[in-house]
Amino acid sequence: MSHLAKTSVKELLQSQSVKQEVSLSGWVRSIRRGKGVAFIALNDGSCFASIQIVLSPELDGYQEVSRVGTGAALTVVGQLVASPAAGQAWEVQASRVEIVGTSDESYPLQKKRHTLEYLRSIAHLRPRANTFGAVFRMRSALAFATHQFFQQRGFLYVQTPIITANDCEGAGEMFRVTTLDPVHPPQQEGQVDWTSDFFGQRTGLTVSGQLQGELFATAFSDIYTFGPTFRAENSNTSRHAAEFWMIEPEIAFADLHDNCRLGEDFLRYMVIYALEHCREDLEFFNQRIEKGLLDKLESLAKAEFRTISYTEAVEQLQQSGQSFQFPVEWGHDLQSEHERYLTENIFNGPVFVVDYPKQIKAFYMRMNDDEKTVAAMDLLVPRVGEIIGGSQREERFDVLKSRMDQQGIATTDMEWYLDIRRWGSCPHAGFGLGFERLLMYLTGMENIRDVIPFPRTPGHAQF
Ligand code: 4AD
Ligand code: MG
Repeated sequence: MSHLAKTSVKELLQSQSVKQEVSLSGWVRSIRRGKGVAFIALNDGSCFASIQIVLSPELDGYQEVSRVGTGAALTVVGQLVASPAAGQAWEVQASRVEIVGTSDESYPLQKKRHTLEYLRSIAHLRPRANTFGAVFRMRSALAFATHQFFQQRGFLYVQTPIITANDCEGAGEMFRVTTLDPVHPPQQEGQVDWTSDFFGQRTGLTVSGQLQGELFATAFSDIYTFGPTFRAENSNTSRHAAEFWMIEPEIAFADLHDNCRLGEDFLRYMVIYALEHCREDLEFFNQRIEKGLLDKLESLAKAEFRTISYTEAVEQLQQSGQSFQFPVEWGHDLQSEHERYLTENIFNGPVFVVDYPKQIKAFYMRMNDDEKTVAAMDLLVPRVGEIIGGSQREERFDVLKSRMDQQGIATTDMEWYLDIRRWGSCPHAGFGLGFERLLMYLTGMENIRDVIPFPRTPGHAQF
């Protein structure tokens, strides 16, 4: 209809001057008919705000256009003028409107408040709702900021495999990848014969890119991964997804302390980036999702993160007088109620818990001199709990080998992992940060299902 270049709503709303003729396209968020005039709020996702389109009765097709349904797709040509209405600098006086795609009353996103649960059931349409517009713009911006942070510091971006034979965390939560016939798999001595499977061995979807990341760190010094991660843990919580995205830096010639500083710098960078680049969306979250979010982020940008050992944390929890559902006992993993009490009540901010008992952590973590604890670190934040999990890695061949033996990990399949301890071994450390948990923290959204486009959780793989 128009040979004019399309301008985004965001650009138009930031305009410095009147424009005689502009062309824009988007979807109708709402429509209001007055006497001899109609107003359409048009949104194209480029920013939170919609732009007001003013339709006068002289417009060609006024009757039809002024009755267009919520959700319809329009292309509008008109003049950008200062808006007399409060709360908006600019509006478009339409001279031509093309209805590109109609919409009727059965459109599920009519202008009214919908619950997040309902919107989850229409996850194919929810990106068009205000809340999800804000969430997914933030997600995109912070994914970009992640690369920017690491690239600026000279980290190499490595793409670790999605299909793997190694259960890095050893928690047995891998989804299987196979091409064997599930009804009649080939068998040998009453067992499934995995050697005749596609890869000649048992494989699954990765639970972490760390082990391969370590291989790259011992060549490129500082590396990071950023990719999808899969866990078949049957925990139906608001903080667990079966498919999520993880950022895993790995740094060579570095110890646990360096690792904590990197985690702190990264989180702070994300906060500042969001404050500088996602202001409009954050203001929405601040108003509608988590009151005080902006203040929290402003102070987080300056806060010094605290560090406490696991042993001290257990003592503090035991002395707190708080009654927990699960008892606090040295040697047992901290439950999320304990983690939240530490970060919300005791520290009222982010806190690193370090040096966990060896029996509750993975085989690759570096043994401390006490031989009871390992150089692990978890970063806990209010509302979300654990957002980062990491450690210094065991770089001493003999120590690693004997830990693997103790834990019954067959070293035959892991010689490659031991090899980097055979030649040119060096202290190294790294962590994993759950990208969705980060988004929950920075947006105030309370359910992980609402910060990932199409959530995968037990019983749900729709869309
Ligand atoms: O603590 P985790 O299990 O650590 C690792 O996987 C290490 N290999 C990372 C490393 O050192 N390179 O997981 C790291 C983070 C958690 O702190 C959490 O933020 C997130 O990944 N995470 C999940 N996020 C969403 N849903 C799940 N099911 C998650 N499991 C872990
Ligand atoms: Mg963890």
